[in-house]
Formats: sequence, structure tokens, C-alpha cells
Amino acid sequence: MTQNLVQAAYIVAAVLFVLSLAGLSKHESAKQGNAFGVTGMALALAATVWGVLDRSAHPLTTFLLIAVAMAVGGAIGLWRARVVEMTQMPELVAMLHSFVGLAAVLVGINSFLTEGDSADTVHGVEVFLGVFIGAVTFTGSIVAFLKLSARIKSSPLMLPARHWLNLAALVVSALLLVWFVQSHSIIPLLLMTVIALAFGWHLVASIGGGDMPVVVSMLNSYSGWAAAAAGFMLGNDLLIVTGALVGSSGAILSYIMCKAMNRSFVSVIAGGFGQEVSLGEDKDYGEHRETIAADVAELLRDASSVVITPGYGMAVAQAQYPVAELTSQLRKKGVNVRFGIHPVAGRLPGHMNVLLAEAKVPYDIVLEMDEINGDLSDTDVVLVIGANDTVNPSAAEDPGSPIAGMPVLEVWKARNVVVFKRSMATGYAGVQNPLFFKENSQMLFGDAKERVEDIIKAL
Ligand code: TAP
Repeated sequence: MTQNLVQAAYIVAAVLFVLSLAGLSKHESAKQGNAFGVTGMALALAATVWGVLDRSAHPLTTFLLIAVAMAVGGAIGLWRARVVEMTQMPELVAMLHSFVGLAAVLVGINSFLTEGDSADTVHGVEVFLGVFIGAVTFTGSIVAFLKLSARIKSSPLMLPARHWLNLAALVVSALLLVWFVQSHSIIPLLLMTVIALAFGWHLVASIGGGDMPVVVSMLNSYSGWAAAAAGFMLGNDLLIVTGALVGSSGAILSYIMCKAMNRSFVSVIAGGFGQEVSLGEDKDYGEHRETIAADVAELLRDASSVVITPGYGMAVAQAQYPVAELTSQLRKKGVNVRFGIHPVAGRLPGHMNVLLAEAKVPYDIVLEMDEINGDLSDTDVVLVIGANDTVNPSAAEDPGSPIAGMPVLEVWKARNVVVFKRSMATGYAGVQNPLFFKENSQMLFGDAKERVEDIIKAL
């Protein structure tokens, strides 16, 4: 009876997860989607604990062990969630993905040790694949965490014959699978684990900074498949469903990211599609022009159309509130103000949309790159607020650039461009930006929040 109720609760939780994903796909319903997700997860946890206690020979000890583990895990989770800055979210997410991977490895090895020889071939394959996916996700996510938090350089690692190394890792793992299923020995399982750990590390290390968004969403997907594999190993249907939902939604997100970055999905899965590239440091782009807040205010006063293209720097400066205030003031004066959002602006999918929604910028003036690009040549002023790679013309003009082929916001086509940043430093991809040296561009140096506030004062 209890197990039937647990299964029923799992079905309700799975439906809530589907509703949650559906809700999260639109601004307007995102909060509701979150609420569905939280309710589904609370139900799933309660049902799982109940089911485990019902089957346990020592329910009290089991309950205490689970309670202690949940209290420790929950406390760490709450503490991280409270202190994390919005700009650190991607590295936190990468770190959390690594835990899912590690959990799948531990569940797999535990499952082998407890069932060992009695396990059938199907279960053996489940264990082997689960550990493989988990190990790749674990080290891949750690490298992503290190790159996103700037603890290691984000430039691609270029080992000679790196694609052959990847292929060799896959072929040897496949051979080890055959050995494992035939022998039921732990040696091939452990050998494969070591290879998969190195494979995951190498796969992500070979990818350059500009392509990290795709890597993050791919690891998101891998962590889902790792969870699904753990679900098979534990015989937990809800974990299989949840893992598959995360895995497939992560894969869809990766596909969207690949399209946004003009990269091939297959070459991303193969890993290391960064090539030998030129960062454009030695090239002479000429002189840049500087401006001051009062002059930008003057420019805006005379403008009839303004487009704001925010990037990672807006998040760092927390400039979304004065940006929203400036927008509302200009709109009151009858200026047509719109936002152009690049799909990989910032450090996580939807980063800019979240910040603008937080500052209550109306959704209908926040447009996607494809919707705004055609209008830029007919725009009086573009304000580039802390964006760099996403407005870099070399993506379109320099085939040797690491970001070559990535569609960008073509802000240089506008009559005037004002770039808000603190220095002439490069963006995340480490590439020089010729936009800063164009005749219609002016640099407004300083913290984006302070400069926008200065403009509001001057207006
Ligand atoms: P970036 O190219 O990262 O450039 C941000 C710029 O903001 C920097 O050049 C920096 O210049 C400026 N900045 C930093 N702090 C500032 C502050 N307080 N005030 C004013 N300016 C400040 O930004 P982007 O155009 O948004 O491009 C995103 C990049 O990140 C892409 O390469 C993308 O591939 C990558 N990425 C994206 C994601 C996702 S999913 N969105 C995930 C990982 C990586 P100064 O230092 O001179 O101020």
C-alpha cells in the first residue's frame, strides 16, 4: 500500500516538474513555474523518504541518518544560496553539476559492490554507463567551475592530436564495458572511471572562453543523464523521469546556444572545437574617443530612438536599477527606448532578462538580438552597458577570430554608440574589440552604475 502511494506521489511530482519547466520558459509564468518545481521536489523528497523508511529493517536509524544528511546538505545549500552573487551563479551551477556527476559515480560503484556477481548484464551496463557519464560530468563541471570563476585561464587547452585522444578514450571505455559485463570484475569499472575522469577534464579544458555558454548547458544536460542513470541503478522511477527531463531540456538549451553561437552541435559533443586563433592584440585599430556623462545626456536629449545593449558588466556593476530609471525618464520624454539582448550576454542563459525584470523594465521593450538587429542602422544612439564580446564586429569581419561566425548585436551600424566600461580591457573571450575604435563610437569609462547615475543627474 505504502509503495503504491509513493508511486502515485512520484507521478504527481513528475507532472509538477513538467509544469515547472513549461512555466520557466516564459517571463510571465516563471515564478509560477518555480513554485511548481518547489512543490514537486518537496513531494518527491517526502515520498522517497517515506518509501525508504517503509522498506527499512531499522526505520529509526535510517530516518536519523537521512535527517542528519539532509540537515547538513540543506544548511550548506541555504548558506551558499544566501551569499552567492548573481554574477557567481554560473560557477555555482557548474559546481552543483559536478555533485550530480560524483553522486552518479558513487551510486554506481556502491551498486556494483552491493550486488556484484548477482547482477545481470542489463544492470551491469547501467552501472558502467552511469559511472561513465557521472565521471565525465564530475571533472568536466569542475573545469567549467574553475574557468568560470577565473581560477584557471579560459583559453582552450590545445593538446596535439586531442581529437584522437578523445576517440581513444571512448574506444577503450567500450572495450572495458565488454570486459566488465563478461567478468563482473571491478578492475574494468575502475579503469574506465579513471579514463572517464580524464576525458571529462580534457573535453571542457579544450574549449575556449567564448564557447563556455554551450559547455555550461551541455554539462547541465549531462548532469540530467547522470541523474537518470543513478535512477536506473537505484530502481527509482522518479529519478529516471527527473534526470531525463533535465537531460533533454539541457540538450534543447545546448541546441539553442549552438544556434546562437553558430556552432555545430556535433562538434560541441566531440569537445574542443576551439581552433588556433588570433586574439587581435597586435593589430593597430587606431585611436578611441572618450566622452563624459554630460555629453551623453546631451546626445540622449536630442535622440528619438535609443537601444540599450547590456552585458556582463551591467551585472557586475548592478547597474540595472539606474538603467531602468534612465529608460523610464527617456520614455517620458517621448524617446523610443528598447533593449537588445544577445542570447549569451552575461554569464548564464537569460542573465540580462532576469536583471531587467528585477528592475521592472517592461517586457515588451526587451527584444532579442534577431528582433533588434534590423533596426540598429536606423537608431540614433546605442548604449552598450558592460557588453563586449556580444557587440564585437570581428565576429562578423575577422574569420581568424575565436568568436568568428557568432552572430552579434550589430551596434556599430547605429548613428552613435556609447560604450560603458572601466578600461580598454577585452571581454570574456579575450578578444580585442574594433567597435571601440570606430568613428561613431565613444567610450564612457568608469563603473557602469555610477556613469548611468551621472547621466540621470545631467538629464
Ligand atoms: P563580456 O564580453 O564578458 O564583457 C563584459 C565587459 O564588461 C568587460 O569588457 C568589462 O570591461 C565590462 N565591465 C566589467 N565590470 C564592469 C563595471 N563594473 N562597469 C562597467 N563595465 C564593466 O560581456 P558580454 O558582451 O555580456 O559577453 C558575454 C561573454 O561571456 C561571451 O563571450 C559569452 O560567450 C561568455 N559566456 C556567456 C555565458 C552565458 S550562458 N551567457 C556563460 C559563460 C560565458 P572592463 O573590465 O574594461 O570594465
